[in-house]
Amino acid sequence: MATTLTPILTKFWDHPQSWTLETYEANEGYQALTKALAMDQSALVSMAKDSGLRGRGGAGFPTGMKWSFLPPPDGGPRYLVVNADESEPGTCKDIPLMMAAPHFLIEGVAITSYAIGCNHAFIYLRGEVVHVYRRLLRAVEEAYAAGHLGKNIQGSGFDLDVTVHAGAGAYICGEETALLDSLEGRRGQPRSKPPFPAVAGLYARPTVVNNVESIASIPPILLHGADWFAAMGTESSKGFGIFSLSGHVANPGQFEAPLGITLRELLDMAGGMRGGKKLKFWTPGGSSTPLFTEEHLDIPLDFDSVAKAGSMLGTRALQIFDETTCVVRAVDRWTDFYKHESCGKCTPCREGTWWLKQIMGRLEHGQGDEEDLEKLLDICDNILGRSFCALGDGATSPVTSSIQYFREEFLEHLRQGGCPFDRDASALFA
Ligand code: NAI
Ligand code: SF4
Repeated sequence: MATTLTPILTKFWDHPQSWTLETYEANEGYQALTKALAMDQSALVSMAKDSGLRGRGGAGFPTGMKWSFLPPPDGGPRYLVVNADESEPGTCKDIPLMMAAPHFLIEGVAITSYAIGCNHAFIYLRGEVVHVYRRLLRAVEEAYAAGHLGKNIQGSGFDLDVTVHAGAGAYICGEETALLDSLEGRRGQPRSKPPFPAVAGLYARPTVVNNVESIASIPPILLHGADWFAAMGTESSKGFGIFSLSGHVANPGQFEAPLGITLRELLDMAGGMRGGKKLKFWTPGGSSTPLFTEEHLDIPLDFDSVAKAGSMLGTRALQIFDETTCVVRAVDRWTDFYKHESCGKCTPCREGTWWLKQIMGRLEHGQGDEEDLEKLLDICDNILGRSFCALGDGATSPVTSSIQYFREEFLEHLRQGGCPFDRDASALFA
């Protein structure tokens, strides 16, 4: 049976003024919070565990388990920090969610904070998206005014303050410990783990760091039950998620569906390839995940199946490239991004991404020689698993996978002494 969409977080995105408290409350908004405040905190943690929800920021770590890692209360503060620094190339799910229905996130923040015993939560937002910052601030104000945030929430005796913080526009600040450093007012660079934030996070206090979509999924789970959520998706990847389709597709956008749906099904829903062209390659979870090709169209998009096929589900950022695209050029562009965003803390990534960019750039221009391909693979080998954080590893994925699937195209650049593709044919790069 074909998988169908499951509009839950996206249900009323096309309603007028979808972002207001009024629209949210007309769609069961804040009823889950009322239910939560009447429950035992440990029951809420169990509910998150039973639902099988895995982190929607990319790594897929079980959300309920993360909450349960917090040490027992010691009288000091503990924090919830929402990672809203969505920056992975191709990923566009958290920002549309915060623009169209910010109260899902705010209600989720209130429920999660109550569950983990936090009285001050932070939403760390990517710095460039000033329009989202304004929308979140307005939604937080509305929630305060309605008694869903602040002192004595809904008369329950539970107090919660929420601070929306805009970063300064660095990809590395999406790495959770760099994010915490940035939030504390320092230059954002990853910290050593362990200790994980659950033990020593913001201001060295126990902290849960969760992605926007993970937290926004909590109200519907609480309202409809852990079993309802767990009945969707696959054995190891429960529930629904927002898949963002971009690139050479007829109707790009966000598609909310059970995990395990395939790209073939999603492409059908998105009207197929733009202009009836042939699919050449795609990313299952953003540019940090190894490329897939047409042969992977029927891989179920769940954590395990994608990993088994040699890539990662990551952020479900499906970037679609048709036959007019030069893969060398696309990878060169991504490599430039990683070189630019490397924070410089560790040598393999700082030096390695620079060298990857030098070599990719010359190959795209038909310079260099065949040995450069081996050099690229050797550099990737020296970055992968030897870098301090996931950025370095991610930088190698497009390079190694493009050589794996499209070696001949690299060589064609050398034979022709330049890029064999018509740059104007692909509007993505226009
Ligand atoms: P990770 O696997 O190291 O950690 C995942 C989460 O589980 C973290 O919150 C970590 O604190 C927690 N955790 C893991 N082991 C734990 C333990 N033993 N005790 C307590 N907590 C534990 O992954 P990481 O480095 O946080 O994230 C990498 C992922 O981020 C990549 O797979 C990529 O898909 C994604 N990503 C997402 C971006 C976006 O824009 N959303 C940007 C770049 C990468
Ligand atoms: Fe910084 Fe890159 Fe090292 Fe991560 S892998 S700490 S981004 S230099």
